[in-house]
Amino acid sequence: MKRIRILHLLKSDRPKDNVVIKGWVRTKRDSRGFSFLEINDGSCLKNMQVIADSSLANYEEIKKITTGSAVAVTGSLMESPGKGQQWELKAEKVEILSIAPDTFPLQKKRHSDEFLRTIAHLRPRTNKYGALFRIRSELSLAIHKFFREKGFQYIHSPVLTGSDCEGAGELFKVTALDLNNLPQKDGKADFSLDFFGMEANLTVSGQLSAEMFALAMGDVYTFGPTFRAENSNTSRHVAEFWMVEPEMAFSDLADNMNLGEEFLKYLTGYIMDACGDDLELFAKYVDKNLMTTLEGLISSDFTRLSYKEAVEILDKSGQNFEFEVGFGLDLQSEHERYLTEHYFKKPVIVYDYPKNIKPFYMRINDDNITVAAMDILVPRIGEIIGGSQREERLDKLETRMDEMGISKEQYWWYLDSRRYGTAPHCGFGLGFERLLMFLTGVINIRDVIPFPRTPNSISF
Ligand code: 4AD
Ligand code: MG
Repeated sequence: MKRIRILHLLKSDRPKDNVVIKGWVRTKRDSRGFSFLEINDGSCLKNMQVIADSSLANYEEIKKITTGSAVAVTGSLMESPGKGQQWELKAEKVEILSIAPDTFPLQKKRHSDEFLRTIAHLRPRTNKYGALFRIRSELSLAIHKFFREKGFQYIHSPVLTGSDCEGAGELFKVTALDLNNLPQKDGKADFSLDFFGMEANLTVSGQLSAEMFALAMGDVYTFGPTFRAENSNTSRHVAEFWMVEPEMAFSDLADNMNLGEEFLKYLTGYIMDACGDDLELFAKYVDKNLMTTLEGLISSDFTRLSYKEAVEILDKSGQNFEFEVGFGLDLQSEHERYLTEHYFKKPVIVYDYPKNIKPFYMRINDDNITVAAMDILVPRIGEIIGGSQREERLDKLETRMDEMGISKEQYWWYLDSRRYGTAPHCGFGLGFERLLMFLTGVINIRDVIPFPRTPNSISF
């Protein structure tokens, strides 16, 4: 008989016979003449309460069931007389698939996030992480829905590339050469003999690919894993993270900001509707202000101000920041959070950053000092979105690449897009894990990704 997921079973509007559920035992209580089993199958936060009567043939075995064991239960779904649940399952058969030993690490108590990270295979069996990864799954779907409704096409940008989109040099190199016996030329490794005939790396961003396609298909987006070897052991950085990157042709920086704001509002509203139970857990146990913050994002008009204005505010703030503030210096997370959490108390879009702290592809403004960049900052996170209008003018782009020492030969294919039918275009990158942190109140990025990759950590 086919199993039914508890999520679907709980939505039943009437009693049902011959129901099969399969899952893991959260708790077992023995009473006179029967046992209660709480079963969770990962489909939703709620457990199914199973009543196993002592008349069952294997009742002596059932009594030995421990927390963490896997079972298959066949029975009748009935209205529950007990408090706390509408339905319960009266078992006709309890098949024990495996018994978890007493050493089962998830005993009935609260475990720290740090501990749970060390048992990756059991982490999603807890209420908190089950909820988190269901929200993550739902959020992925919401991203595709948003863009589909708007007529964007989904582009699969490559993971292996020969370029460094952000120019920050935080690349994981990819090679098929024997690292213990590298072919040499002029005292350096000779990558012309490597698989691709040149140096290759894991992508830091799908943007350059998205730009190519935006200039053919209009509005596109990528959504996939990106990799950065930045050795910053912070609660907001992982070496492998997922990024959503829309790219719009015939659009400027204002269109970009509008899209970013609309996107964040849509996704927040979507998760509040679609993941009520799971989200409530975070509002109750992780961040008491969660719902206020989420509602605040949906109902507010994001503040928009230039980088210059932001620096002036920070300068006058009287705050004792760890990092220096000044025109030409990048905003640090503490500065971003001050603006969004304390000064404006809502999401903030900062635009027109100095060109010297931004990558080569951003469109230069008429002042020749700033570029048409924009970052969206939200409470608790700081930067959640980074984007810009792109330099679509070939001569300006070439000048900028020369200034920054970027090889025009290597990026010939990118420059070509500015030769044949170039047009104004813009886009941004949304850090998928940062958004999950924002939506759940979780403060460490390692706790919103199934298998976090950080310095010195790649187990599982
Ligand atoms: O600001 P970033 O570096 O922008 C880009 O990569 C552009 N090429 C995007 C574009 O315009 N298409 O990264 C975009 C976002 C950041 O705002 C942040 O949310 C997230 O990606 N991010 C990270 N998330 C987790 N771990 C890291 N190490 C991250 N680095 C960036
Ligand atoms: Mg950025």
